[in-house]
Amino acid sequence: MKKFKFNLYSVLCILYSLAVFTACTKQAEPFRSVYHHTPEANWMNDPNGMFYDEANGIWHLYYQHNPEAPVWGPMHWGHSVSKDLIHWEHLPIVLYPDSLGTIFSGSIVIDRNNTAGFGENAIVAIYTQSEYIGQHQSIAYSTDGGMNFIKYDANPVLMGDIADFRDPKVTWDGDHWLMTLACQQEIRFYGSPNLKDWTYLSSFGKDLGAHGGVWECPELMKINDKYVLLVSINPGGPFGGSATQYFVGDWDGKTFKCENGKYENEQMPWLDYGKDNYSTFTFHNSPEGRLVAMGWMSNWQYAEVLPTVAFRSQNTIARDLFLYIDDEGEYRLGSVPSKESLALRGEETRYLPDAGIVELTLDGSQDALITLSNDKGEKVVMNLDVHRRTFSMDRTASGDCSFSLDFAAHTVAPLFVKRDTYKVLLFIDHCSIEAFDAEGAWAMTNLVFPSEPYNHLEVQGGEAKIYNIR
Ligand code: FRU
Repeated sequence: MKKFKFNLYSVLCILYSLAVFTACTKQAEPFRSVYHHTPEANWMNDPNGMFYDEANGIWHLYYQHNPEAPVWGPMHWGHSVSKDLIHWEHLPIVLYPDSLGTIFSGSIVIDRNNTAGFGENAIVAIYTQSEYIGQHQSIAYSTDGGMNFIKYDANPVLMGDIADFRDPKVTWDGDHWLMTLACQQEIRFYGSPNLKDWTYLSSFGKDLGAHGGVWECPELMKINDKYVLLVSINPGGPFGGSATQYFVGDWDGKTFKCENGKYENEQMPWLDYGKDNYSTFTFHNSPEGRLVAMGWMSNWQYAEVLPTVAFRSQNTIARDLFLYIDDEGEYRLGSVPSKESLALRGEETRYLPDAGIVELTLDGSQDALITLSNDKGEKVVMNLDVHRRTFSMDRTASGDCSFSLDFAAHTVAPLFVKRDTYKVLLFIDHCSIEAFDAEGAWAMTNLVFPSEPYNHLEVQGGEAKIYNIR
């Protein structure tokens, strides 16, 4: 029999396995979010195929998942469900890689009229398959409410003709299906009567928008009588790495048009003015006609080296998207915490909890300074600058920033709307701060890794109410 010999490598492996085991079994990791969705173990990126099952009151969230390691790898669709968008139950993986490639991002629709022939109300997933010779779109269907999926036997349904050809978001457009697809640094639109046969309609974005990186995870949504096109870009975000730009315009059934001149690199509007909100999608079939959205709360610059052990990444809280007109008369895409996220707010408290909500009331006639800190001197400093009309967050001294040179950052959002009093909501969890203008004019999402929770809050130029979470 071969004798087992201890060497440094085997000792390190055993120690790593023990750490992973402890973290997995006890969920003991200090940076595991309390009220944000995280994968049970290993790697997660983009949220995929989210939809709401109104008959059972269940929110389904699928996600890019490598079940083998806490870093990106062969992609699967992981699956979690929730009744309240706060508590998530982890379910088995629904889509595994196959001979056509690994399973990249995509969307889900409920096929109410059985256009695809998989049955009335079949849940149909449309996703990218990625292999080294290219990227194609495939479909799979579920007749048990999204728990198990059967892959269509004539996949792929749309062959790629360029290297980056991915992330189909499908919606119903009057009398046919519409696919919005990211193709290098453009968006293409395709139409289909049955989710199986797709016809090219048009392309958008060649000379518009930010072009510092590849375009990914698009979504076209109708809001009132306008259309908004969300386009994630990586790299090329305003503070480095990944971020989500958007365009407001019109859709004539074939082409998307927005006013030229407004959407140029320097003045691009962003869905979120922090570093950590990427690949945001809305839930198909959200109740009350709302646009309930969630994004991946990370950034490709450092997502794989974040200081967690057994798992990596978390999603943002659910937010409702809407359009408003700012002080300059421009359309802006606003985001407010969804009512399901606001329901987290528990009792008011004097002490800053390690996961809680802070409501700031800031006097609009003077600058305000808000500091979250801990006994180790680690701090996050926020500033409302009424002259520059900005809200900023500085995480350069927030805690562990050592894992990536790109992590220390100071992010800035334009206020867009002048107010006498600014109300700002801070959603604080174990490794994140999401700041919102309470009326939704801007949002800012940033990760933080303090060596112990922030337990002190100081506000100059305003007042704060602190709430426990329910
Ligand atoms: C965005 C993305 C998508 C792709 C997926 C792969 O974060 O790069 O474009 O489908 O992640 O995991």
